[in-house]
Amino acid sequence: MCGIIGILGNHEAAPILVEALKRLEYRGYDSSGIATVESEGSIDRRRAVGKLVELQDKLVFQPLKGKVGIGHTRWATHGEPNEENAHPHNSGAVSVVHNGIIENFLELRHELRCDGYKPETDTDTETIAMLCSKFIDEGHEPIDAARKTLLKLSGSFAIAMLFAGHENLMIAARSGSPLAVGYGKNEMYLGSDALALLPMTKKITYLEEGDLAILAREGVDIYDHLGNLVSRPIKYLNQSTNFYDKSGFNHFMEKEIYEQPVALETAIKSYICDKNVGAKINLLKELNFKEIPKIILIACGTAYYACYVAKYWIEKLAKIPVEIDIGSEFRYREPPIEKGTAAIFVSQSGETADTLAALRYCVGKAKIIISIVNVSTSSIARESDQVLEIHAGPEIGVASTKAFTCQLAVLFLMTLKAAQDRSEISEINIAKTVSDLKSLPSTLNQYLGSTNSIQDIAYKLSTASDVLFLGRGLMYPVALEGALKLKEISYIHSEGYAAGELKHGPIALIDDSVPVIILAPCDELFEKNISNMHEVIARKANVTLISDKEGLQSAGSIVKNTIEMPRTNKLLTPLVYALPIQLLAYFSAVSKGTDVDQPRNLAKSVTVE
Ligand code: M6R
Repeated sequence: MCGIIGILGNHEAAPILVEALKRLEYRGYDSSGIATVESEGSIDRRRAVGKLVELQDKLVFQPLKGKVGIGHTRWATHGEPNEENAHPHNSGAVSVVHNGIIENFLELRHELRCDGYKPETDTDTETIAMLCSKFIDEGHEPIDAARKTLLKLSGSFAIAMLFAGHENLMIAARSGSPLAVGYGKNEMYLGSDALALLPMTKKITYLEEGDLAILAREGVDIYDHLGNLVSRPIKYLNQSTNFYDKSGFNHFMEKEIYEQPVALETAIKSYICDKNVGAKINLLKELNFKEIPKIILIACGTAYYACYVAKYWIEKLAKIPVEIDIGSEFRYREPPIEKGTAAIFVSQSGETADTLAALRYCVGKAKIIISIVNVSTSSIARESDQVLEIHAGPEIGVASTKAFTCQLAVLFLMTLKAAQDRSEISEINIAKTVSDLKSLPSTLNQYLGSTNSIQDIAYKLSTASDVLFLGRGLMYPVALEGALKLKEISYIHSEGYAAGELKHGPIALIDDSVPVIILAPCDELFEKNISNMHEVIARKANVTLISDKEGLQSAGSIVKNTIEMPRTNKLLTPLVYALPIQLLAYFSAVSKGTDVDQPRNLAKSVTVE
C-alpha cells in the first residue's frame, strides 16, 4: 500500500506533490508527508496525521520551498499512524519514502545501533534512510550509498530518495512494489502508479523487478538487478484525468455503482463481435479450452468472490473442474499444478501482492497464465501470458463495485468461450445467452432508477450490530460479497453463508436483533431458500428477501422487507443481484456517517501481504 511521488521540476514542488498525492490517496490515507531539497541544499519536510487535507493545511502556515521533492501517503505497517512515523524519513543527508515492508529491519536496526545510529521512529522505512546515511558518512557518494543500501534490504519495496546538497538527483528502486518514471520537458517524475503522473505527463516507463533508477531533470538511467544499464520501454498513456471528479454524486462509490450499466456495456462490447449471424466471443483466441483439463482461479477480496461465481459457471457450462483460492493461502500451501492447467488471476488493481505472488508461483508450472484486470499496465497484467481487461474505468472508492460486475461479465464470456471450444453448448444457446448478457446494461439502468425501498431497508440495517447474508448456488458468492461490502464501509459485522449451512451453526445467532438478507431469485433453488427463510423467521429474524416479482409473490406476506429485482437469464443473476447488496452497504454507511470512499484501516490497492 502507500503511495509514492517524486518530482525533479522547474517549479515549486510542494503544491504539485500534494496534488499528485491526492491521486494516490487510494493506496493509504492515515498520514502523509513531503520533503524537498531547498535551494541552499538542505532537506526540509512537512508531515501530518490523517487525510491529505491535514498536510495541505499545514503547508499553508509552514510552506516548503524547493523544486525537487518526494511525497508519500501512508497505510501503516510498522508503527502507529502518527507524525513521527509518517514518511518521508530523514537521516543525515538522506530522505526516503517507501512502499512495502523491509523484513529484516530489526536486524539492520540492531547493526545500526551498534554503529551509533539511533532510530527515532517505529518504522522499517527509517532503516533505509539510516543505512544510506551511514554509507555516505563513510565517504560514499549518494548513488553508491544507495546501491549498497539496497543490497542489504530484504522484503518488498518501492523507494524514492533525495539527498541534501543534490538538487538534481533522485534515486528510485523497485523490488516487489510498483514504480513508474514519467518524462516531462526538462523535468522528471516518479509515481507508484502512472495515473498519479497523468496531469504532468503521459510518457511513462515502468520499472521492472530489481531496477534502480537514477533520475536527473535531463532524464533517467535505469540499472537492472545485476547492475547493467538497461533500456526499458517508454509507453504513452491515452487516459484522461477527469475521472477524479464525482460528477455530482456524493461519493465515488455511489458514482461507481451508478456507472455499472455503462461500464458493463463497454466490457461486454469489447469481447463480442456482432458482424456474423449469432455471436462471436472474441477473447483468448489462441487458447482452445478443449486442451485444458483444469482451471485455477486466484484472487483476493471482492475479486475472489467473482472467481467463486465463475467456478459455478465454468463447471456447469464448460464442464472443466475449477479450483479457486485466495491469493494469501494459495501462495503458501504449495499446491501441485496439474499439467495443462490454466491459471487465472483476477484483480481490479493488478497490483495485489498476494495475487501477484500466487501468479509468480504458477509461472513455469501452469500451461498458461491469464489475468483479468482493470489496469492493463499493472504488474499482474505485465507478468501474464494473456490479459483480459475488464474495462470498468478507474475505480476510486475503496469498496469495489463496478469492477466486480465487470469481472463477472468477462469471466462469463470466458466461460461461454470455454463451453464453445469444448462443444458443451450449442451455437443457438450461445447466441441467446450473449443477447441476454447484452441486454443487461439497460436492465440495470432501469433498476438503478428506483432504489428508494433499498434506502429505507438500509437505514434500518445501519442500526444492527450483526447481519447475515444467505444465498444458494450462484447467490452464495454474492451473499459473501454482500457481507464484505457491508462490513468494510459501514463497520457492521456481517457474514455471508450458503443457506444450506444455516442449520450447521449460524442459526444459533438468530434472534430479533439479527437482520437476515436472503438472495433468492426464482430458480430451482428458490423453494429451498424459502424453507430457510421460514426457519429464521420462526426464530424472530428480521428478514429482507431479494427476489424477482414471481419469487416475492410466492414468498407471501410473511416477509416484511422485500427488494424486487428484474427477471433475467438465471445464469446472469449474480450481475443483477450485486447491485442491491452494494446499495444496501452504501446507504447503511451513509446513514452511519462513515467515510464511505476511504473506510478506516483499508486501502484500495493492497501491495503488501
Ligand atoms: O485490486 P484487487 O482486485 O486485487 O483487490 C482485491 C481486494 O483487495 C479488494 O477486492 C477488496 O476486497 C475491496 N476493498 C473489496 O471491496
